[in-house]
Amino acid sequence: MATAPAVPHHIAIVMDGNGRWARRRLLPRIVGHQRGVDALRRCVRACQPRGVEVLTVFAFSSENWKRPPEEVSGLMELLGKAVAREVPEMQNNGVRLRFIGHLAALPEGLQRTLAQAERDTADGDKLTLNVCLNYGGRWDIVQAAASLAARGEAITEGALSGALALPSAPDLLIRTGGEQRISNFLLWQCAYSELFFSSYLWPDFDEAALDEAIADFAARERRFGKTSEQVQGGA
Ligand code: IPE
Ligand code: IPE
Ligand code: MG
Repeated sequence: MATAPAVPHHIAIVMDGNGRWARRRLLPRIVGHQRGVDALRRCVRACQPRGVEVLTVFAFSSENWKRPPEEVSGLMELLGKAVAREVPEMQNNGVRLRFIGHLAALPEGLQRTLAQAERDTADGDKLTLNVCLNYGGRWDIVQAAASLAARGEAITEGALSGALALPSAPDLLIRTGGEQRISNFLLWQCAYSELFFSSYLWPDFDEAALDEAIADFAARERRFGKTSEQVQGGA
């Protein structure tokens, strides 16, 4: 019955619930974000042995600038420190880091840290970790269309797909934190992703929670517009 492969090649995650995790413990929201970095490290370590080859995470949306200035600056500082700190382990584990989004609007020091981390991990060939920063699905579609227009290229589905900041499509999109919405994440790329909503707050998301999402994915039938009979018949 199940036609999805047992393990998704590409998983995307909306890492939501850091603030609520902290609030429940009467801690500042930034502590939730710090624990969120720990959860991401755990998740990256868990993906490789399970056969996941691409992990794309939503770390900061184009809309998150609307948050209180101290939370935004705390997040930017945390991001820079976390990236610099995690690079050696990523290099050892063959993880290639990529940053996806409107990066030119980020603080300059952070931009330099991100560029250095991309260079330092460029040889990683076990797992690609795409971190979406100042990313919005609408921004991505607009920048792709604008780059085609600037080059005088026709806007076709194939050309637009190839011009996206993230040209590959997730097989499985997980959102933690209990909310069931996309929040302007990979709008184009998730057209046929399987969606999994987890009630875990992101800092609590562990290997067992990941396995639950992967097992759910394995039981889905991905039809891409065809009938079940066609899919079962291998058409
Ligand atoms: C997600 O956690 C992390 C970012 C958006 C940066 P939140 O900070 O949105 O956590 P909640 O939704 O307030 O619990
Ligand atoms: C989505 O979470 C963005 C990230 C996880 C980075 P939000 O917490 O910003 O989403 P909304 O505002 O609840 O939709
Ligand atoms: Mg949230």
